[in-house]
Amino acid sequence: MYDAGKILFGLLVLAGLTTLPVWYNVARGKAGPQPQLTVGTTEKQCVLPTAEMRAGHMALLDEWRTRVVRHGEHATRTSGGREVRMSLTNTCLGCHAQKDQFCDRCHDYAAVKLTCFECHVVPKRSK
Ligand code: HEC
Ligand code: HEC
Ligand code: HEC
Repeated sequence: MYDAGKILFGLLVLAGLTTLPVWYNVARGKAGPQPQLTVGTTEKQCVLPTAEMRAGHMALLDEWRTRVVRHGEHATRTSGGREVRMSLTNTCLGCHAQKDQFCDRCHDYAAVKLTCFECHVVPKRSK
């Protein structure tokens, strides 16, 4: 009844066509426009290497929250071996001092909405 091969081929062509602008940019070595981020500190290193932070900061924050709230721990070590307090406000926003030009700018770009700051304090200078 169905010709699975033809259907699959059709779907592949369709997928190729709808993502054509993406492939075009990939081929030219360009992604879409990137948000301009202000890191907000003269420190050179994040808590983990940058690529890991980019991909996994949500999981890291989740882990910090569990360790603080459930296990009563307060300090952890960065991948560089420095001891830091596990605090969203004091540690993350201590370095990323302009939340609006860092966290918010990237989240707006990626259409991510956070509820964290309904409870957690944003230092004044970050607003
Ligand atoms: C309803 C209020 C509320 C919301 C929303 C909330 N938190 Fe919290 N969070 C708390 C409270 C209360 C504590 C415990 C504070 C303490 O023990 O120092 C806490 C602790 C934490 C901690 C560890 C200590 C600290 O001060 O940072 C982290 C990390 C954390 N939350 C991350 C998050 C993240 C990430 C989000 C959003 C995804 C979030 N929280 C949303 C109330 C909230
Ligand atoms: C000691 C200062 C410092 C602290 C504390 C810090 N960061 Fe960073 N963070 C940096 C620096 C510096 C970079 C950029 C490194 C680079 O350019 O390679 C960075 C990069 C990042 C990136 C990747 C940005 C990109 O361009 O993709 C994210 C996401 C991030 N940080 C989130 C966080 C979060 C969330 C916390 C708290 C858990 C945190 N940072 C704590 C200094 C810090
Ligand atoms: C390079 C871009 C980028 C930067 C910079 C960035 N984020 Fe994110 N963040 C994301 C993306 C993308 C997601 C959604 C990821 C997903 O859903 O898997 C996200 C998700 C999160 C989440 C989980 C939200 C949820 O409700 O599940 C938290 C918490 C968070 N970011 C906190 C921060 C904080 C705090 C900063 C600044 C210190 C920051 N992020 C900076 C890109 C970024």
